[in-house]
Amino acid sequence: MAVPVLALALCGCAGIQSTLDPKGPQAAEIAHIWWVMFGGACAVLALVMVLALRAFSARRTGTPVDANRWILSGGVALPVVTLTALLVYGVYAMASLRAAPPDDHERIEVIAHQWWWEVRYLRGDSLLASAANEIRIPAGRRVAVTLQSRDVIHSFWVPSLAGKIDVIPGRVNRITLHADEPGTVRGQCAEYCGAQHARMGLHVVALQATEHAAWLAAQAEPARLPADGQAIVGRRQFQLHCAACHLVRDSEGTAPGGPAAGPDLTHVASRAFIAGGTLENTPGNLLAFITDSQALKPGNRMPSFAHLEPERLQAMARYLEGLE
Ligand code: CUA
Repeated sequence: MAVPVLALALCGCAGIQSTLDPKGPQAAEIAHIWWVMFGGACAVLALVMVLALRAFSARRTGTPVDANRWILSGGVALPVVTLTALLVYGVYAMASLRAAPPDDHERIEVIAHQWWWEVRYLRGDSLLASAANEIRIPAGRRVAVTLQSRDVIHSFWVPSLAGKIDVIPGRVNRITLHADEPGTVRGQCAEYCGAQHARMGLHVVALQATEHAAWLAAQAEPARLPADGQAIVGRRQFQLHCAACHLVRDSEGTAPGGPAAGPDLTHVASRAFIAGGTLENTPGNLLAFITDSQALKPGNRMPSFAHLEPERLQAMARYLEGLE
């Protein structure tokens, strides 16, 4: 009985979104703190159980017990000693998580919206590229990330790489991401922020440094104009129906403004997920989201376009699929 239960419980300790499966030095430090605290809690539990058994047996046999001595040693001295030891260890261990932020010359700005993450890649003050719900970082390097919110309080949490930090309107918070090896992990908004809070996810993709530089250079390029007939029609439809909120940076695209502005779609086809990191970026899902986003993510700011003819919707999806 105990073995299957333990196996089931431990399943939750691995995977792309787990504090206990660290993929970088900060997350490893946090996991270490967790295990020490867990060990301390288990030791205290075991000790309390032994004392409780002793108390029961003393009562049964009628052995006299010096109540004051037990209250002072078990109720005052023991908690003071163990909690002080764990506190000192925790404060000391956490100091290493507050290491000086990396060189801010190249940084990533993450802006939380209900219910998606805007991701901006900056060099100095100039914007290189803008994307959504996916952060790409070079592996083996500390990357500075600044966090802001456009509406309510959110919380940025990528458990395999770093601690959790709130994203608060009117404030700029900072966090460092550092992945040891190339790979993909998942993050999640960790502060209730409205109906679709649960569907506010993101992925962090760590790449080899050279691969990352090439990817960023490609993202900084404008979108290629479509060549095939259906995609050309799709681009026209996109400009009619979508460009008030979404930017595709090509020869005609201009940045939309206002609170309704949605993700930059200039290179949307290069992303693995859409809809706040919750739907795989497949042609079928893209078409489904354009057609009826309110069915897939009720309450989001994008209206459904089910009233348009299927040919127009398919043309738009075809156009977006080509934006690599
Ligand atoms: Cu954003 Cu919860």
